Amino acid sequence: MSNNHFQVYSIIFISVIFLACQTKSTNGSGSNLSFIGIDSSKFDSVISDKNVTLYHLVNKNGLTAIFTNYGARIVSLMVPDKESNPTDVVVGFNSINNYTTSSDPYYGATIGRYGNRIAKGKFSIDGIDYQTPINDGLNMLHGGPIGYQGVIWNAEKIDSSTIQFSYLSKDGEMGFPGNLNVKVTYRLRDDALKISYEATTDKKTIINLTNHAYFNLNGEGSGTILNHQLEIFSDQYTPIDSTLIPTGELANVKGTPFDFTKPEIIGKRIDLDNDQLKHGKGYDHNFILKENGDNKHAAHIIGDKSGIVMDVYTDQPGLQFYCGNFMTGKNVFKGGAKDDFRTAFCLETQHFPDSPNHPNFPSTELKAGETMKSESYYKFSIKK
Ligand code: GAL
Repeated sequence: MSNNHFQVYSIIFISVIFLACQTKSTNGSGSNLSFIGIDSSKFDSVISDKNVTLYHLVNKNGLTAIFTNYGARIVSLMVPDKESNPTDVVVGFNSINNYTTSSDPYYGATIGRYGNRIAKGKFSIDGIDYQTPINDGLNMLHGGPIGYQGVIWNAEKIDSSTIQFSYLSKDGEMGFPGNLNVKVTYRLRDDALKISYEATTDKKTIINLTNHAYFNLNGEGSGTILNHQLEIFSDQYTPIDSTLIPTGELANVKGTPFDFTKPEIIGKRIDLDNDQLKHGKGYDHNFILKENGDNKHAAHIIGDKSGIVMDVYTDQPGLQFYCGNFMTGKNVFKGGAKDDFRTAFCLETQHFPDSPNHPNFPSTELKAGETMKSESYYKFSIKK
């Protein structure tokens, strides 16, 4: 088939998806998503007395995304590759059961109340000590054992390209103070997936929300991400100890394997003899983003086979680059491939890990009556 024919067929294919989604997207349930190999009935379920289902968004630029309200989570994100083939760049599972039983519960999920680690699960606010449950060796990870990835969110489909999830995280849940009302809005805008967060509390608390999409820009199941080319707009990162808790130091990336200020292949230095890489079993570190303000350009990454480029923008101070070092092939993705070692990466926009215990890190406190608002987006294009 000639390239031109291919593109014409791909455009027809994307249009058919678009029309199909337009006609079936009123409430997101009961839809036929067989075009991406998902049987939506395998997601229709009742967990903790709440209905769980799939929702899908689509826009005119050919982006299609599938979500579930179990963990306000991205299940799939289809982006055209250099030959206009729709490519699923967010790895995930094809049934709710596979999500609830996965050895890694975070695939595609919203993470909170405090994303990343808190040393020994301990922090204090205004002299009051708090203790969260421990779920990662000595520490708390991603909000404790039942963080926001493991709860059922309310969902409201705003229009064909926007969905809003909301959740009331009760005072004392996972040891955190204050009733926290959280909203996460996903929007497909032009060539980007935009994620907006909003939260209010009735008692001073700490908060660090992020999304845990695992990406493979060559498409789910296409092998390791080690040949992706990555640039991170950061001169400094926060070194960690052997339990992945920051030491408190802000270290310069220059002359280290953490220097992504110029585009580098992810796998090039990942196995060097370096203590930091040993602690993370590869890259699993928080990068301090350079500029201030909204729409900071955080990262630029290219799938070597697909030509798909992803640019990450955020208003958050940090970016956790994790390259799937704990993936062990125990779970099976939508398309049938196993979640093998380093076959996906995460670029999590967030505050620094363990911030409540490091006065030199930007504060994660939210006062009663204040509103926390934050926005990150993942923009897609084709390598020129
Ligand atoms: C990441 C974290 C990793 C690992 C992973 C989940 O956000 O940085 O250390 O815990 O989540 O498997």
